[in-house]
Amino acid sequence: MLRSHTCGELRINHVGQTVTISGWVQGIRDKGSLLWIDLRDRYGITQITIETENASKDIVDIARSLGREFVISVSGKVVERYSKSDKLETGDIEINPDKITILNTAIIPPFTIEDETDGGDDLRMKYRYLDLRRNPVRKNLELRHRLAIETRNYLDKLNFLEVETPVLIKSTPEGARDFVVPSRMNPGEFYALPQSPQTFKQLLMVGGFDRYYQIVKCFRDEDLRADRQPEFTQIDCEMAFVEQEDILNTFEGLVRSLFKTVKGIDIPTLSRMTYADAMKYYGNDKPDIRFEMKFVELNNIVKGQNFKVFDDAQLVVGICAKGAAEYTRKQLDELTEFVKRPQIGATGLVYARYNSDGTIKSSVDKFYNEEELKKWAAAMNAQAGDLILILAGEENKTRKAMSELRLEMGNRLGLRDKNTFACHWIIDFPLLEFSEEVDSTSIGETGGRWHAKHHPFTSPKPEDIALLDSDPGAVRANAYDLVINGVEIGGGSIRIHDKNLQAKMFSLLGFTKEEAQAQFGFLMNAFEYGAPPHGGLAFGFDRLCSLIGGADVIRDFIAFPKNNSGRDVMINSPSPIAQAQLDELAIALKK
Ligand code: AMO
Repeated sequence: MLRSHTCGELRINHVGQTVTISGWVQGIRDKGSLLWIDLRDRYGITQITIETENASKDIVDIARSLGREFVISVSGKVVERYSKSDKLETGDIEINPDKITILNTAIIPPFTIEDETDGGDDLRMKYRYLDLRRNPVRKNLELRHRLAIETRNYLDKLNFLEVETPVLIKSTPEGARDFVVPSRMNPGEFYALPQSPQTFKQLLMVGGFDRYYQIVKCFRDEDLRADRQPEFTQIDCEMAFVEQEDILNTFEGLVRSLFKTVKGIDIPTLSRMTYADAMKYYGNDKPDIRFEMKFVELNNIVKGQNFKVFDDAQLVVGICAKGAAEYTRKQLDELTEFVKRPQIGATGLVYARYNSDGTIKSSVDKFYNEEELKKWAAAMNAQAGDLILILAGEENKTRKAMSELRLEMGNRLGLRDKNTFACHWIIDFPLLEFSEEVDSTSIGETGGRWHAKHHPFTSPKPEDIALLDSDPGAVRANAYDLVINGVEIGGGSIRIHDKNLQAKMFSLLGFTKEEAQAQFGFLMNAFEYGAPPHGGLAFGFDRLCSLIGGADVIRDFIAFPKNNSGRDVMINSPSPIAQAQLDELAIALKK
């Protein structure tokens, strides 16, 4: 071993011992008669102090030749520091070296390896191995490790088996786009990388493995956002002989145990909200319930006063921002600009201030007198001091815009504290959603079709099966999402385990019998050999890590992430391949 201790380990009780530590040079200060080296490794920083007049010339020469990030090994005596530092855990001691060995030199790093670095995102990604030396990044990956270990412990205790499923699988037309891999041995044919191990975990249930999990890489070729990566990790789980209630209870247990063991936080029993209520009260299927500010529909109260915007609107909906009546004209203009941004898409914002003196003034006073405004306030449960914000227009668009405005107000009013965790289930999702869009995965006739809201293996609620033919859009699924602080952390469902129902589902999704057989024959065939009732879910592991780590961007919790264009700028991938490789794979590139 090139060390007896780490750089984070030595304390006052080590004083007098001769030790060897190794690491990277964080910094050097040379005051002539005294020279300090800060030596860093994964565990911390230890100060090396050299009294140049008393130390050997060798040591002084070596010390003076060091640069930032040199890798060195230092042997010497641990001594008590004259002036102690409470910034470092090792701040009570320092080492007087007998020997310094340079294990490797380093060129000057392109950014400072400090908690607050001067390196921008691109630079840090290009030199990710240097970024990984920084405390914040290392701490994120340590948290990730802890969460993975605790997940395995929890599930292992409940008899779940971790089983690996293949990475070279088959492309399917449902879900996001696949990443595909050409097969040299089967020219013109392609594997796909799994978007999730969904069908395999179901086959494991047919195979009798009744409790499966896997911390597993998934791949989706979709547009990237802060909470999406093209390759990401799921805690993927499946159970046989269960109903929805069993799944919710089991994995609620996992979430609470992770918060307890990793963060020391007791999460109360998770509340449940139907999808319909989530949309009605929050305009969003992943509402952030750290704060209330529920939607109040105002159609019956505001229509018929000759205000065309409200009279013509399909939906008039308001929120009450507690204590925000003092908002200045400038702040209200900012909010109006916010809702009018193309991403939000509202045409304007109506507001009413319920002043602390009891008067109410609105931006539409021309149409509504104080008596009318009092009715708004009553409907919205507003008190003196509150601000009422109202949007109007086409129903879905307006709900979506109001959802964004609600979150914005939550931010502005400081109601979205990163250290508060509000976890809940959204249940009773619709089985299907209709999409007018024609995309590369559309099948059957063009011009829109039903899509599975979760995925095509999700079971309708038994009591809604009769609606499959008459009113497919009204069928609810045994599907659920876990939402924490407005982030979809996980989702799953009870699966169809009956071959005929599965075939019906494929037919509703626009597959011909032949297409369904070609794509999913393996699953439907398996269902003929005794498939148990089963269900499961998957958590987005990167999202869970970043949420528990108090960040929004999952990239910071992945050792080697891709940037927003899906590139790994460190290894420069994706990249062209040689013509010979293309020829071997029988791939001709479009000129
Ligand atoms: P779903 O598609 O909802 O379900 O995915 C489960 C969870 O994975 C996370 N997630 C992502 N995280 C980072 N980057 C992405 N691109 C990304 N896409 C999804 C989300 C999401 O909630 N097989 C089903 C699960 C099941 O039914 O058991 C599935 O994959 O947190």
